[in-house]
Amino acid sequence: MAKGRPSTSFFCNECGYESSKWMGQCPACKSWNTFVEEPAGRTAQSLSGRARTNAPEPMSVSAVSLESLERYVTGMSELDRVLGGGIVPGSLVLVGGDPGIGKSTLLLQVCRNLASSGRKVLYISGEESLAQIKMRAMRLGEFADDLLLLCETDLSAIEEVIRKHKPAAAVIDSIQTMYSDSVSSAPGSVSQVREATNVLMMIAKSLSVSVFIVGHVTKEGTVAGPRVLEHMVDTVLYFEGDRYASYRVLRAVKNRFGSTNEIGVFEMMGSGLAEVANPSEYMLSGRPKDSSGSCVVCAMEGTRPLLVEIQALVCRSSFGIPRRQATGCDPNRVNLLMAVLEKRMGLKLGECDAYVNIAGGMKMNEPAIDLGIALAVTSSFTNTVISDDTVVFGEVGLSGEVRSVSLVNNRAAEAAKLGFGRIIAPLGNADQLKEIKGPKIITVSTLADAIRAIG
Ligand code: TYD
Ligand code: MG
Repeated sequence: MAKGRPSTSFFCNECGYESSKWMGQCPACKSWNTFVEEPAGRTAQSLSGRARTNAPEPMSVSAVSLESLERYVTGMSELDRVLGGGIVPGSLVLVGGDPGIGKSTLLLQVCRNLASSGRKVLYISGEESLAQIKMRAMRLGEFADDLLLLCETDLSAIEEVIRKHKPAAAVIDSIQTMYSDSVSSAPGSVSQVREATNVLMMIAKSLSVSVFIVGHVTKEGTVAGPRVLEHMVDTVLYFEGDRYASYRVLRAVKNRFGSTNEIGVFEMMGSGLAEVANPSEYMLSGRPKDSSGSCVVCAMEGTRPLLVEIQALVCRSSFGIPRRQATGCDPNRVNLLMAVLEKRMGLKLGECDAYVNIAGGMKMNEPAIDLGIALAVTSSFTNTVISDDTVVFGEVGLSGEVRSVSLVNNRAAEAAKLGFGRIIAPLGNADQLKEIKGPKIITVSTLADAIRAIG
């Protein structure tokens, strides 16, 4: 490297790709205009700076003890399930989400529960003052003395505090405010965030402290800039939800210690986040009675069945080009299903406006909700009411056939649990549904059968 010349590199703000010159499009993630110039020389000093006195000794698998790996239970069963059964000591967990969705609240509640079960926890905020955290804490209830608060953004200071107090868990709120002396760029930049995560990983693994990192999400839906972060941490959780609905969904996107299919559902209340133990019941509350265009479907969120109501409104269009709108599901899928209904079932939908909505603000993209969308549209078009104790699921193909779906037993069991009396399911799944007790099962092989069943 030439002396005297300031050495800089260009980093992609989206994925962290490093290049010696500026580029319009990132060759790695293909996003445009995301390169920013930052000082180079980001050598991970914390990793390689230490002198090796003796070579490390490898160990055989059978000799590794799992004793220290007993998980901490957070006391919030929704969160524990998403984590795969509790917090693994020494793990690094990234919690991402839009601003104001409730990340700080969730983690402060986790700290509160851990502290009240006698574990020492450290909550480090780079965004709020101690008084502000205390104000939030007062809304959440009583706190044990084992919860320590710290306002700090300097990583070396944080490392020292963690070494001194040896907490079981530490929360870093947020990674974008932290900085390390060894990197000269500003907090929140790609290289700072990467270095900060590196340092935190070293702390987590060497001291066996579970570290939660809060990461903000940008407009595009990636954790600000650094998707690099996702590769480095053990677990990535995203906190999602409609700003205007009070429920929140916590979703595992990556989990080295559990399944990534799990979701946890919470509701934001005046006194923090409350767990929603039965999301289906919650999603279906306030459902209209005896109204056309409403159909209950059972979708799977990972291994968890979730009943939601699909609503459709089909009316004659007053303009030349009909309006089609879908909220919560794929608009192209709705158009496709309407085309199938028109061609195979002879419904004259071509001159109609159609609005399809998944009630409660959920977003679903599972093919198993196809049949529900098609039946809701038909119900609204023909003004027939689908009886409100009916649950449907099934994928619809282009020739109007109803195809089988996965995990039907879980779906049917959930419907039975909530007291539904009738299930319309694909014929292909008939065998698996034999043991279901309670609801009447109607199996269909075509859309025409399904429409006859609701009529
Ligand atoms: P917060 O945890 O600060 O969000 P983030 O850290 O993800 O940016 O959540 C703040 C929102 O939650 C804010 O709009 C107020 C609301 N809230 C409640 O409704 N009830 C509560 O008890 C608390 C603490 C916050
Ligand atoms: Mg916050």
